[in-house]
Amino acid sequence: MKERISTLLQREPGSEILTVEGWVRTKRESKHVCFLEVNDGSTLKGLQIVIDKGQLGDQALLDSISTGASIIATGAIVTSQGASQAVEMAASSLQLVGPCPPDTYPLQKKRHSLEYLREIAHLRARTNTFGAVTRVRNVLSYAIHQYFQERGFIWVHTPIISASDAEGAGQMFQVTTLDLANVPKTAEGGVDWHEDFFARQSFLTVSGQLEGETYAMAMKNIYTFGPTFRAENSNTTRHLSEFWMVEPEMAFCTLEGNMAIAEEFLKHLFGAVLDQCGEDMEFFSKFVEAGMQETLAKIVETPFVHLTYTDAVKELEKHNDHFDYPVTWGVDLQSEHEKFITEVIAKSPAIVTDYPKEIKAFYMKLNADGKTVRGMDVLVPRLGEIIGGSEREADYDTLVARMVEMDLDPADYWWYLDLRRFGSVPHAGFGLGFERLVQYVTGMGNIRDVIPYPRAPRLADF
Ligand code: 4AD
Ligand code: MG
Repeated sequence: MKERISTLLQREPGSEILTVEGWVRTKRESKHVCFLEVNDGSTLKGLQIVIDKGQLGDQALLDSISTGASIIATGAIVTSQGASQAVEMAASSLQLVGPCPPDTYPLQKKRHSLEYLREIAHLRARTNTFGAVTRVRNVLSYAIHQYFQERGFIWVHTPIISASDAEGAGQMFQVTTLDLANVPKTAEGGVDWHEDFFARQSFLTVSGQLEGETYAMAMKNIYTFGPTFRAENSNTTRHLSEFWMVEPEMAFCTLEGNMAIAEEFLKHLFGAVLDQCGEDMEFFSKFVEAGMQETLAKIVETPFVHLTYTDAVKELEKHNDHFDYPVTWGVDLQSEHEKFITEVIAKSPAIVTDYPKEIKAFYMKLNADGKTVRGMDVLVPRLGEIIGGSEREADYDTLVARMVEMDLDPADYWWYLDLRRFGSVPHAGFGLGFERLVQYVTGMGNIRDVIPYPRAPRLADF
């Protein structure tokens, strides 16, 4: 019977004969025995396969097996003589499926730098680090759906190609089938978008929020979970040009409800990783970020700190000599400030609210002061912003005025404005950057190492 190594390692030694398929990580050989450590991605720990050369006497076969080779082995599960595993396989048959020439295979060393591994993204899933990241990513994806499904949120698939700039920040990748060497022009000399595929200018979405809101106005609580794209020229360890975002949207909900859900949601996700990724999390605590498990366990038990932007700025101003960018009321917070708020001021995850309207998106609900909006950012130590969200402006006239103030043409958002004309309700939502989440829980220093194929500015090697 074929078996994944993760479940095989849980078995008691016994008479059952099992088959595993996987890739050889290491081979050790003495005169009478050969040990293969084999991994199939199901678990950090590989399976030790012991080959008694007297019994399986094909030396030519053993000679042709090296690190990276794919094999199929069948044998009994027996108590291991070695200290590092409880059970191992005593092979009764061994088959080489695909050889792996040692002189050209790029993963020879036991440890390679993350920079080197980024250059061979097609092979890095075969390392311990990327195997562990991939399993944690998987558990988190499932836990996201579980959280929302258990609470009656409807999963909505918002489009990837879009004409509207949800964040109003002008950081969109254009989608076009026009011949760039021969762009059709209007009589006035501009590009004639009528000739383009959609007969209008189109882009990759920066967020599913606006379309998500249309469904929240019918289904009440919804969420989207999909890829988003930002053409922002940020070459940092926490920005990608293509990343996944989880965006719940709740009707009949204000900022307070939004904050409560964001906190409960994050704690649910941290809890899922602690429960289901013990072995991988131990690996991250040991090799990547010390004490990651204790940190997450503590966060799950502690209420997040809440503070307004104005109060945060008052505190930050006292420490302006620490910062590359000094803070005054009205400036956008940089990651150094976000980290200071959560690491020094709050000493826990923090939710900052009520930002100046000038530094936030047009859709956030305007406060009575006319200066600040009901936005919220959830900040975590080491990383800064992990969630951005808000209560939405539900009043038609106020929203139109905000659009005009921010140089957006209300006509482009006619369908979004319709939500404020037909049965408008207070509503709120947020976006969790999925890679920031994976980066946070694993402790990985660079966001490019928590997604299989990172896309970032001027990254030539796809
Ligand atoms: O704060 P942002 O821009 O908010 C929105 O897009 C809203 N429409 C969300 C909503 O209210 N439905 O992005 C949300 C989150 C950020 O907090 C961050 O975690 C992540 O998305 N994010 C990025 N992650 C990786 N690379 C980038 N370039 C990112 N930009 C934002
Ligand atoms: Mg944000």
